[in-house]
Amino acid sequence: MKALVLSGGKGTRLRPLTHTMPKQLVPVANEPILGYVFRHIQEAGIKDVGVVVSPETQNDVRSYLGKGSRWRVRIDYIPQEQPLGLAHAVKIARPFLGDSPFVMYLGDNLLAQGIKEFVEDFHSAGLDALIFLKEVDNPRAFGVAVLNKKGEVTKLVEKPKNPPSNLALVGVYFFSAGIHAAIDRIRPSGRGELEITDAIQELMHSGGSVKGQILADWWLDTGKKDDFLAANTVVLDEYIKRDIQGKVDSKSEVSGRIRMEKTAKIVNSRLRGPVVIGKRCEIVNSFIGPHTTIGHGTRIINSAIEHSVILDKCHIENIARLEDSLVGREAKVVHPQNHSRALRLLIGDNNVVEV
Ligand code: G1P
Repeated sequence: MKALVLSGGKGTRLRPLTHTMPKQLVPVANEPILGYVFRHIQEAGIKDVGVVVSPETQNDVRSYLGKGSRWRVRIDYIPQEQPLGLAHAVKIARPFLGDSPFVMYLGDNLLAQGIKEFVEDFHSAGLDALIFLKEVDNPRAFGVAVLNKKGEVTKLVEKPKNPPSNLALVGVYFFSAGIHAAIDRIRPSGRGELEITDAIQELMHSGGSVKGQILADWWLDTGKKDDFLAANTVVLDEYIKRDIQGKVDSKSEVSGRIRMEKTAKIVNSRLRGPVVIGKRCEIVNSFIGPHTTIGHGTRIINSAIEHSVILDKCHIENIARLEDSLVGREAKVVHPQNHSRALRLLIGDNNVVEV
């Protein structure tokens, strides 16, 4: 079995952050989402990974993944010149995929339990496609599936205006080589893309065996701000263990599950987990509340932050309350004395906000 990781796209829904970094590299708990994807692939014992990249972001993706040795895999990079759809990505990956079965993993998706157990299910059931479904509140934003009483998939539709169900297609798919002929038979959708959803529907029509499995555990599509903060919350809740390194002075109080790196420094501050604090951080006279990740080299002075992701090398000073926020690298959010109102921000790299 091979893996195909999709790491292109423009990341329009996470702008302005994605003006300067690919959405697949935006970190959750200080690790890029792609890192979790590759960890899942490694756990599943897959060795050959094709990574579809776009011209805009391929340099960053390549420099993060390298040759894949960190995850003991071999990577083939497959450039996709234009975002012509997920099925188009499979089409251009055909020389890499050959006739091998494969798992396609969208690089901005995160699956709680990884994919290992599903590799075995897919092989033993002799399927042409194994897809995953999850109830969502906003099915219009996804591919949507209809199941019959026996739980079999009867219909799939991409981003329907009138959703026939609230079961979204998750961005992880297992395919046999049979998917290629189905892709050859479909035409671009209204948004001008070759949709994988249409290809799976076509595969079903032509007698392929397609199984839809409803996920019991969580799944996250991190491509949008609120989903991204939700991903941070879930990952902190589920993965973070108390591991406090670095210096905490005697006036500080650190409670709950906090992961803090060796070179971080906490002075006269309160930290309440789950929280992740990166390397070389300085937290002075501040409060860091639950579900917050502070990136490497960030300084927080006289401020309170909760339910937020602050990326690397930021400077936040005299902000009485910053919540539900996503702050890009090297950004500055400062007030000369003490800003008392709550702030909610989504700001890109290098931005300066003087409140
Ligand atoms: C894509 C698929 C959609 C699927 C979603 C999962 O959507 O087209 O069917 O539900 O990924 O993340 P996109 O992210 O391109 O909007």
